[in-house]
Amino acid sequence: MKTIQKKDRPIGVFDSGLGGISVLKELMYLLPRENYIFYADAAHTPYGERSIEELEALTTRAAETLIQEGVKAILIACNTATSAAGQALREKHPELPIIGIEPAVKPAVLSGGHPTVVVMATHATLRQEKYRKLLEKYKNQGNIYSLPAPGLVTFVEQGELDTEAVRSYIREGIKGLSIPDNKIDAVVLGCTHFPFVRSAIESVVGKEANVYDGAQGAAQEMKRRLKAQELLSERTETGTILWQNSKGEEAYNKKAEGMLALLKAHTLRE
Ligand code: DGL
Repeated sequence: MKTIQKKDRPIGVFDSGLGGISVLKELMYLLPRENYIFYADAAHTPYGERSIEELEALTTRAAETLIQEGVKAILIACNTATSAAGQALREKHPELPIIGIEPAVKPAVLSGGHPTVVVMATHATLRQEKYRKLLEKYKNQGNIYSLPAPGLVTFVEQGELDTEAVRSYIREGIKGLSIPDNKIDAVVLGCTHFPFVRSAIESVVGKEANVYDGAQGAAQEMKRRLKAQELLSERTETGTILWQNSKGEEAYNKKAEGMLALLKAHTLRE
């Protein structure tokens, strides 16, 4: 059997469900000639209400599935899994580039003028030490409000993206923050599911608010790491995506493929 050169092996991208597709899309934009395996832990979604111990176990299992498939690098396309288990995973597999994603609080706060920033994420992400440290670091440069929005993960998994139910869920959440004059300068999408409901979020907070997510930054970091380790593929044709999920459901893979197409159709970046 012909052995595949390490640089031609796929990149593994993993999330609890469909959210990680918002990161996969950025990776494909930046690294179109790479092959990808997208693995959704559909049997255990949502992650956002789980304990750190559970998240560590699930993240390790998902990463090991990808490692067995021969991936050359992993992108944990899930804020929740990154904050709970990213470091432990890196320590366990020091030979492998493992990139994570975290709420893009920094660019939102540093956008200037002591902004009012709403960080939307899962309960598990907002509870973590990693997030507390991030808040500590930027708390003097803006008014930062943290909003757990687990319901949005469920909406996205059900394919419900911009309905009145979604908008009203967001409206209630924002109302609960009691922000003076309802003036919001920036929203951080601290969960990879949330770019799918971006237009519903914008319709509630207003178009003037800047929206930030960490997908581009994570994709750039992956490119930088692969380049540094001379692992970028030299293939000349466009890469492929292999869809997998822990339920082993072909219907879920089809749904994931459809979500990627939808995301590509609704943004300017291809
Ligand atoms: N997409 C995930 C994140 O970025 C987790 C969503 C969930 O399973 O609760 O946090």
